[in-house]
Amino acid sequence: MRILVTGKNGQLGRSIYKIVNTTNGDSLPPNEFIFVGREELDLSNNNSIINYFDNHNKFDIIINCAAYTAVDKAEKEQELANQVNHLAIKQLAGIVKEQKAKLIHISTDYVFDGESNKPYKETDETNPINVYGKTKLAGEKALQEIMPTNAMIIRTSWVYSEYGNNFVKTMLRLGKERDELNIVSDQIGSPTYATDLAEVILKIINNTNYRNKKQSTEIYHYSNEGEISWHDFAKEIFELVDIQCRVNPITTGEYPTPAQRPKNTVMQNDKIARIFGLKIANWKASLGLLF
Ligand SMILES: NC(=O)c1ccc[n+]([C@@H]2O[C@H](COP(=O)([O-])OP(=O)(O)OC[C@H]3O[C@@H](n4cnc5c(N)ncnc54)[C@H](OP(=O)(O)O)[C@@H]3O)[C@@H](O)[C@H]2O)c1
Repeated sequence: MRILVTGKNGQLGRSIYKIVNTTNGDSLPPNEFIFVGREELDLSNNNSIINYFDNHNKFDIIINCAAYTAVDKAEKEQELANQVNHLAIKQLAGIVKEQKAKLIHISTDYVFDGESNKPYKETDETNPINVYGKTKLAGEKALQEIMPTNAMIIRTSWVYSEYGNNFVKTMLRLGKERDELNIVSDQIGSPTYATDLAEVILKIINNTNYRNKKQSTEIYHYSNEGEISWHDFAKEIFELVDIQCRVNPITTGEYPTPAQRPKNTVMQNDKIARIFGLKIANWKASLGLLF
């Protein structure tokens, strides 16, 4: 299989790269992976997308890890966020369909408004409350419309890793610099280690059924198991690495940001676990692997 991975410099792209380039990766079926960043394939530019695919041999699977992920900045850069998260996905889906390839696209818990008191299922109503969420949802919808078969949307949440910018890395830095921090305690979610998600994606593409059969396009939820607030998550991070920094709980109202955040976006993961025979790790166990 010839597999294209976009977003090679992002958290998920780098996590996939890390796995396929370790001994673990050696035990996988022979796949040829091609990793691209915005230098090779710029999703903000229609011509760049056309040129890239015109100048490369066909792929069997495209894993789209690239996205406009700056949630607050998106409120001001609506057009760019919409281009990368929506219009480029529409264009990509058309190309993937034409190539008779499969597409794995990553989406977000921010397609929900966070007002539910139950974990979100894939079929639950979406209602994004910020520009980032709206553009990601528009991308999902365009993809489903163009590719009723052979695509997969994996919604994930609160992604962290050893790479790039994320909450865990920010806490590690601030925790060493300051004696105390105020962290929002009324937003709940499921932190997800990018390596876990990367492993799941690799399991899926090596699944015989997935490789050999045409499937209807489906949405799946995948995050690490369990739920926590940002405040308690920060406390757990400091406890794990023994950083002495007091963490004070504050409300979302006390920490205004340009983009509104959903209150509770915990998602149900059983569908992906059942269909692909996965055992999903708890967020705390996975966080421990990082250190
Ligand atoms: N991070 C989270 O907490 C979170 C939560 C839920 C869902 N997700 C979803 O999970 C997926 C992976 O996220 P991540 O955490 O790996 O994000 P990330 O670390 O921000 O990586 C995103 C990548 O997309 C690339 N990109 C941005 N604009 C581009 C463009 N115009 N053309 C080509 N590439 C472009 C970035 O390139 P540069 O490196 O050059 O900037 C970056 O490498 C995304 O679909 C995201 O929406 C993330």
